[in-house]
Amino acid sequence: MAAVLDVVRAFFAPQTAPAFVIDHETPADVVAREALLDRTMGGDRRKKSSEKIRRGRVPAEGLALVARDSEGHVIGTVRLWNVEAGVSREGRSIDALLLGPLAVDVAHEGKGIGSALMRAAILEAKKRDHGAILLVGDAAYYERFGFFADKAQHLIMPGPFARARFLGLELKAGWLDNVAGMIVASGRKLSRSALRQAA
Ligand SMILES: CC(C)(COP(=O)(O)OP(=O)(O)OC[C@H]1O[C@@H](n2cnc3c(N)ncnc32)[C@H](O)[C@@H]1OP(=O)(O)O)[C@@H](O)C(=O)NCCC(=O)NCCS
Repeated sequence: MAAVLDVVRAFFAPQTAPAFVIDHETPADVVAREALLDRTMGGDRRKKSSEKIRRGRVPAEGLALVARDSEGHVIGTVRLWNVEAGVSREGRSIDALLLGPLAVDVAHEGKGIGSALMRAAILEAKKRDHGAILLVGDAAYYERFGFFADKAQHLIMPGPFARARFLGLELKAGWLDNVAGMIVASGRKLSRSALRQAA
């Protein structure tokens, strides 16, 4: 009987090795991350308005995350970028983060990896005392994490964008109240050698 119970216990016991983990990106992940983005988003991804803000910049400190499978391979990615999100009524420039791209390997879609990356990114951004996150994406996906178009209604991207897809999440209440203007990159610039490698 004990042997049978052990088999049943083993069957219902939680998996000891999780199917994926969320981790900080390292320089060794860059090639795999870029290949994943090419596969999931195609070559046109570099023409997006968000790309203008990311180009030549380093992601916000501690906010480049990857999902790894049990062998350590990169199967998901999300990065956040420092931006100035317009100005307040008093004319003060407002710091925020721009999130993107978020992508999960097609072979692993629907397993909660995108959601885990989003939740980890939001938590890490809060821990690092950021006030708000903006992104351009499908509201039907991002609303579940608290992103809504009304938070970004007076902000504009530096290029074509669909207003209904431009979404914001406040990490500090009221951070985006009455802010208006264009999103401008404010993150640290990539070094010359990193720029040559990225070209
Ligand atoms: C969007 C993406 C990141 C989701 O990753 P994922 O790991 O499959 O997501 P999760 O497993 O956490 O969530 C899956 C849920 O999101 C839903 N979903 C996925 N993409 C969606 C979208 N664009 N709009 C609305 N819902 C979406 C799925 O239907 C599923 O719903 P369910 O939980 O009710 O079954 C992934 O599909 C992807 O990389 N797509 C290509 C790149 C891309 O378009 N990125 C930007 C997203 S706007």
